[in-house]
Amino acid sequence: MQHIELDIQRISAFIPEQELRQLQQDLLHQHQVLLGKTGKGNDFLGWMDLPQTITNQLLEKIKSDAEQLRKISEVIVVIGIGGSYLGAKAVIEALRPHFGDEVGIPGKPRLVYAGQNISSDYLSDLIKYLEDKSFSIVVISKSGTTTEPAVAFRLLKNLLESKFSREETKDRIIAVTDKSRGALKSMADIEGYRTYEIPDDVGGRFSVLTPVGLLPVALAGFDISRLMEGAEIMQQMCASSALFEENPATLYAAARNALYRRGKPIEVLVNYEPALQYLSEWWKQLYGESEGKEHRGIFPASVNFTTDLHSMGQYLQDGLRVLFETVISVGKSKHSLQIPEDKDNLDGLNFIAGKELQHVNHMAELGTILAHLDGEVPVIRLIVPELNEFYIGELIVFFEFACALSGYVLDVNPFDQPGVEAYKKNMFALLGKKGFEQETLEIRKRLNLQ
Ligand code: PA5
Repeated sequence: MQHIELDIQRISAFIPEQELRQLQQDLLHQHQVLLGKTGKGNDFLGWMDLPQTITNQLLEKIKSDAEQLRKISEVIVVIGIGGSYLGAKAVIEALRPHFGDEVGIPGKPRLVYAGQNISSDYLSDLIKYLEDKSFSIVVISKSGTTTEPAVAFRLLKNLLESKFSREETKDRIIAVTDKSRGALKSMADIEGYRTYEIPDDVGGRFSVLTPVGLLPVALAGFDISRLMEGAEIMQQMCASSALFEENPATLYAAARNALYRRGKPIEVLVNYEPALQYLSEWWKQLYGESEGKEHRGIFPASVNFTTDLHSMGQYLQDGLRVLFETVISVGKSKHSLQIPEDKDNLDGLNFIAGKELQHVNHMAELGTILAHLDGEVPVIRLIVPELNEFYIGELIVFFEFACALSGYVLDVNPFDQPGVEAYKKNMFALLGKKGFEQETLEIRKRLNLQ
């Protein structure tokens, strides 16, 4: 059985062996702290046990609710933001065909997203699109009070209520939220919506393997049991030993922190598959929100190659030398496609005729890695055998364990996010929310508003 694999050979030119070994000592300790649940934020470690706490019974319930909603819907709107959005979107985008579900039908509904912005144009277009469709809503918010999803839910619930009876509307809404707190939970109780709980000890960005991610993934028609199988295998690998040879998460945490300490504060996650674009978005939230604290932390960025080689490629090769790359390399493509021979060869491509396109993509990857190493960009490589539910499950747990360990190496609490409140306070004051009256005057003055 193959697993995802981490290759850090190519950072050796940038990091003396001794420094990595020192970090290994630190990681042996941090691994104990994490597993022993004695470190910072230890009331938010429920994500480590999800392959066990998400029971088969719960998986079956999610599948059956998903099936019911799929049967009656042409379109399903998944409402959520941040940790209540990116994980599901990452998994679904990694698995779905790139084309083909522009128009959904009951049984094979189209999934669309809302609540991840406050754009008037986005929501107006969505409402227009949904007006003549049979649609349903899955609304996801742990706190149940986040502005963006709450606004989208209010608008789309109104539309649903204008199209269907009270009873039918109720059958077309599922809420995923806290078990007892928040406006969404109260609303669900009063209106009688079906609900799923987000465990108290699992933070938003670590919640993709709870109903937050599992329900949308099941709605999209993918195998959530297989996803959890991959997650469980990786959980065993990451939890059982801290040794580099046996644990890709400690190895990754050590490699990236060693590079950070050597003057590389920016990590660029690279993919060669457009299907992985949202996995990078999920990864950016996971690492950015977990590590960026107390004026410390690696800045997570991402690029999609080869697309961005024609835009950001120049900077990566030749700009300020403050970055390193982590390249996700997918072994086997879902489909095989050969470059055809052409008798006239007017485009000059016969030198690759008969070759698999995936091979060409791999050669682009290897050529780029070498060029970037020559340009003094250290490269870590993460090899994923193929993009299926199992390996995506492995990837998620690998990144989560490595993120927690990295946070501990940096000596921050990887499980809180105090910094995300600052903008909300100002926005609420500007919008005149009750309880923010004191701030309103001062903020308006600072912004030179009348
Ligand atoms: O990871 C986090 O905690 C955040 O990104 C939240 O997931 C995000 O703000 C959405 O919060 P909620 O699920 O409470 O609506």
